[in-house]
Amino acid sequence: MRILFIGDVVGSPGREMVRDYLPRLKQKFQPHVSIVNGENAAAGKGITEKIYKQFLESGAQAVTLGNHAWDKKEIFEFIDEAEYMVRPANFPEGTPGREIVYVRSNKAEVAVINLQGRTFLPPLDDPFRKADQLIAEAKKRTNLIFVDFHAEATSEKQAMGWYLDGKVSAVVGTHTHTQTADERILPKGTGYITDAGMTGPYDGILGTDKEAVLNRFLTNLPVRFEVTKTGRTQLNGFIVDIDESTGFARKVERILINDDHPFFG
Ligand SMILES: [Fe+2]
Repeated sequence: MRILFIGDVVGSPGREMVRDYLPRLKQKFQPHVSIVNGENAAAGKGITEKIYKQFLESGAQAVTLGNHAWDKKEIFEFIDEAEYMVRPANFPEGTPGREIVYVRSNKAEVAVINLQGRTFLPPLDDPFRKADQLIAEAKKRTNLIFVDFHAEATSEKQAMGWYLDGKVSAVVGTHTHTQTADERILPKGTGYITDAGMTGPYDGILGTDKEAVLNRFLTNLPVRFEVTKTGRTQLNGFIVDIDESTGFARKVERILINDDHPFFG
C-alpha cells in the first residue's frame, strides 16, 4: 500500500499546484491513497466546500485540517457532510466533523487521523492520549493508520513520532510549511517526517507575501498578511510504502517540486 501525502496547500497558488501535479504524481508513483492537508487552502486560512470538492476531483481521497480549520465560517455548514475530511481530533467532545476517515483502495482500507499540537498553539485536549483512543478504534477495522500531526514545535512532532512508533503506519508533521529532511522509518516500523512542507508560493515567506512579512520584521508594526499571488510555486509532500500484512512502513520518500528541484514525470 502506497500513500501519497501533500503538505499544507496554501491559497490559489497551492490549489493550482495540486490540480496540475497531483495527477502527474499519481501517474509516476501510483499511490493507492492520496491525502492533502487543506487547512490553508482558502486564501491561506481555512477551506471551503468548493475547494474540498476540487481536491477530491484532482484525485485526493482524504483532506486533513489543522488550526485554521474553522477560519472560513462555511466550514460549519458542510464539515459534517464532508465524508473524506478529517479535522484535528483533540478538540472538545461535540466539535463538528470527523475524527477518523476511512479510505478504501483496491488494496485495503486506511484510517486517516489528524491531531493538533499544543506547543505554541491554542490549548486543546491531549493529542497523545487522543491518538491512543483513536488508534484502538481504528484497529478494529484496519492496521493501516496514517496520522497527520499538525503542530508547531519540531520537538512535539518528534515526540509524537516516537510515541506512535509501532502503533501506526506513518506520522507526518504539518503546519510549519518548511519541509524537513528527516524522513525515516522509526525502529518499530512507523514512517515519519517532522514536516512534509508546504504547497503554494515558492518566493514568499511560508506562503505569505514576503514584502509584508519583511515589513513586519523591520518595523514591528501590524501588517496585513496575504498569500503571494505572483511568482513561482512549489509542491511538497511525502510518500510511504506500507506492508499490508504488518501495517508498518517499508519505504519513505520526500516529494519536493520547485524550480530548484524540478519534477521528472
Ligand atoms: Fe496550521
